[in-house]
Amino acid sequence: MMMMMMSSCRINNIAVMVLLIMAYCNMKYCEAQLSPDFYSNSCPKALSTIKNSVSKAIAKERRMAASLIRLHFHDCFVQGCDGSILLEDSATIISEQNALQNFKSVRGFNVVDDIKSAVEQVCPGVVSCADILAVASRDASKYVGGPSWTVKLGRRDSKSASKDLAEANLPIAFDDLNALLSSFARQGLSARDMVALSGAHTIGMAQCITFRSRIYNDSNVDGGFASTRRRPCPPVTGNGDGNLAPLDLVTPNSFDNNYFKNLLRRKGLLHSDQALFNGGSSTTDGIVSGYARNQASFYSDFSAAMVKMGDISPLTGSDGEIRKFCGAIN
Ligand code: HEM
Ligand SMILES: *[C@@H]1O[C@H](CO)[C@@H](O)[C@H](O)[C@H]1NC(C)=O
Repeated sequence: MMMMMMSSCRINNIAVMVLLIMAYCNMKYCEAQLSPDFYSNSCPKALSTIKNSVSKAIAKERRMAASLIRLHFHDCFVQGCDGSILLEDSATIISEQNALQNFKSVRGFNVVDDIKSAVEQVCPGVVSCADILAVASRDASKYVGGPSWTVKLGRRDSKSASKDLAEANLPIAFDDLNALLSSFARQGLSARDMVALSGAHTIGMAQCITFRSRIYNDSNVDGGFASTRRRPCPPVTGNGDGNLAPLDLVTPNSFDNNYFKNLLRRKGLLHSDQALFNGGSSTTDGIVSGYARNQASFYSDFSAAMVKMGDISPLTGSDGEIRKFCGAIN
């Protein structure tokens, strides 16, 4: 009897210990978790080095702020935030840069290479390309007058890329509201996250080929706005496809809430922009007008949504690798 009690007691103790370890694991070590101070011992100069390089690049070309933020978005929606978009064609890689949504469109790769080489100088082999994209996005937003937020770190870089997944997961300019909602829902992002994140179109440019059908064929478009945008974007495919127009017609170089104010006036450049506000009663109409009225609420939701987007399926622990060059696996 005594023996039995002791042994069951022992089993209980062991069970309790296992449970405690499991609980602790979940909180700290075992589960994939990013943390803002990931590099504070291994590379204390990582953040300031990235920031300096980002500042230099945007000082040289203001649009680069937009291009860097977009790279992080296009990274995170494909296999998670793992730097996969940065991988170039090679024997084992079909680059995501060839995907429809990226081809002749995503840019900033030279800047990312510059940032990476500056970081490699201060601590070789420590900081991932995926983390560089996340930090650069925050620094870019701040530089052009947008919100700042604390970036969680510790992502590792993929050894693979997927052009097919890029084409399947990245939204396109011709998407309607339902397609947009399901594309973001697939990544665990809500309608509110989606509208806030789309506010990144407060900066940067789009090519004629992405907004041609909107300015010639959409009905929910301001007439004067459409005719202004038609001039550098002729109706026939193949003519002026690459000609640029600002995504935010009012202040394309500053991060503010004019993007949402434009939508209220039916002056969204992309069909997908205007899909967020139709002047009807869809769920996103109210979110758009809220951000148009209150820039602070846009800023705080944008920051939270960028953190949430940055959390999409990171590689951690011993998964993936820390690339030496962002464009190729080691
Ligand atoms: C809601 C679905 C979205 C669609 C359909 C979409 C589509 C597009 C398209 C077609 C362009 C122009 C590309 C070109 O003409 O080369 C563009 C540019 C841009 N997108 Fe989006 N986008 C979406 C959401 C986002 C999100 C969530 C972000 C970031 C958080 C973002 C950031 C940007 C930026 C900053 C640019 C300008 C880039 C530059 O000037 O280099 N977009 N987007
Ligand atoms: C506008 O729609 C018509 C009819 O569907 C189509 O033939 C035409 O190519 C479209 N034009 C543009 C610029 O998208």
